[in-house]
Amino acid sequence: MTGKLSSESPVRKSTTADHLADLSLRRDEIQTAEKRALDRQHAKSKLTARERIELLVDPGSFVEIDAFVRHRCNDFGMEDNRPYGDGAVTGFATVDGRRVCLYAHDFTVLGGSMGVAHGEKVLKAIDMAMKVGCPMITINDSAGARIQEGVDALGYYATLARRVVRASGVIPQLSLIVGPCAGGAAYVPSLGDFVAMADEISYMFVTGPDVVHTVTGERTTFEELGGPEVSMETGNVHFVGADEQDAASWLKTLLGHLPDNNMSHPPVYDSDFSPEITQSDLDLDTLIPDSLNMSYDIFDVIGRVVDDGEFLETQAGFARNVVCGMGRVQGHTVGVVANNPRFLAGALDIDASEKASRFVRFCDAFNIPILTFVDVPGYLPGLDQERRGILRRGSKMLYAYSESTVPKVTVVLRKAYGGGYAVMGSKHLGADVNFAWPTAEVAVMGAVGAVQVLNKRKLAELGETERAEATEKLTAEYEQNFSNPYFAAERGYIDAVIQPSQTRLLVASALAMLRDKQESLPAKKHGNIPL
Ligand code: HXC
Repeated sequence: MTGKLSSESPVRKSTTADHLADLSLRRDEIQTAEKRALDRQHAKSKLTARERIELLVDPGSFVEIDAFVRHRCNDFGMEDNRPYGDGAVTGFATVDGRRVCLYAHDFTVLGGSMGVAHGEKVLKAIDMAMKVGCPMITINDSAGARIQEGVDALGYYATLARRVVRASGVIPQLSLIVGPCAGGAAYVPSLGDFVAMADEISYMFVTGPDVVHTVTGERTTFEELGGPEVSMETGNVHFVGADEQDAASWLKTLLGHLPDNNMSHPPVYDSDFSPEITQSDLDLDTLIPDSLNMSYDIFDVIGRVVDDGEFLETQAGFARNVVCGMGRVQGHTVGVVANNPRFLAGALDIDASEKASRFVRFCDAFNIPILTFVDVPGYLPGLDQERRGILRRGSKMLYAYSESTVPKVTVVLRKAYGGGYAVMGSKHLGADVNFAWPTAEVAVMGAVGAVQVLNKRKLAELGETERAEATEKLTAEYEQNFSNPYFAAERGYIDAVIQPSQTRLLVASALAMLRDKQESLPAKKHGNIPL
């Protein structure tokens, strides 16, 4: 049992030396608790809260605050156990020389749960991040609201959620999930911008399997309920690292692409940008297969346009039909959104729409230009999608692109059919520069579908052989006249039809031209995105 009386002095103090000895004893108590935490965490192949912070920040830069905070609860025998820190390590540091504020739960203290004192600590950390305009990083390993502190614990979680919402779109909020995170400890990271999880040791859910069984009778496991695989498939997390080090490293790389706050710009890096067309650029001239039904690797396109081929994908295992992530062009961060023809032929379904919309809104909030690569046969039709609300949920794409004011450059690679054309960074939704490859097909739908819709009655009247011949002829005519980029280019909806090998240079020129773009939205309290 530790710290029975919160401010009782372990030594009699009359001299400065006595005061220093007193401080030293109190620090020893923290060290002893840290040693105990280390043994317990390491036994579960987990790091301690302080070790986790050290993994993330520049060596020696972490300044801990509120290490002497203790809870003041007297219920459930809590008066006999008042450990320093109250299950949270909080403070500020630098990451690659940039300021961050952060907190990390200590699961070895009451399951890392949050009561009043713990709540006051984490609120102080986020308030500090907001005051100075720096990113907030949370390291989560917690059972959520502390049962012993009842409604106070709930109140602090709700207050924290409100602070996170206030900070949303003002400072980047990044989280690590590195243990079983229940209730508020899972909700709060979900409210933020990006979540990275470490494999084997991490879970996130409303509550754990035991409570689920007690409440609903359902038997389930940590893995099924909110393990890394499930959390990625549901879109709850953006990255699953092989271990804590891997997850932390991903978060640091991501941070390198982000500004400190919504009034600043992401850091600019040196780049080896070649102003000449390279062999890598020329490879794009032969990338698109001759058959529309064949796919290619969209990462081959992205990697040839961003600096050094370095692309940090987010939510790689969720809605794989759309790819989102960060790269740089001439050293400046760019957010990439691209259809992936290898999954659902690149069609937009509900998950893809929600994934891309949230990513676009993040980029827009933090002054990150958006580069869109289009090869989309449209929204995914069908009973399942309609019943799950694709109209409401798919329209988020329209909303996100339409409200965004950051520079937007779009390249149509192949199909740009129907609603897919409209939402994937079209000129009509406010894109600034729209390129198309000669292989682009900008149309309401593909030739085969269009011919059937337009000639249904006429074709039905024909015999089988004649119908096949007529269909073939009509399809060829449609392809000739409509399945190309020129119909759109003639109207100025496409600014230039370019050779694929020119893409990197032209995208870079367009983004450079747009760097000081200014655009504002009409004054309003906030919009009403279909949620
Ligand atoms: C206080 C808690 C606790 C809690 C666990 N512990 N949950 N203490 N408040 N909510 C304690 C245990 O008593 C135990 O203490 C230690 O933490 C470890 O717990 P275990 O169950 O042994 O660990 P494990 O098997 O790993 O399971 C972890 C768990 C599970 C999945 C988190 O404990 C669980 O499901 N807890 C309940 C989670 C929950 O329902 N939280 C409240 C959600 S409501 P000892 O002393 O034995 O080490 C909420 C409000 C959200 O958060 C509001 C959002 C705005």
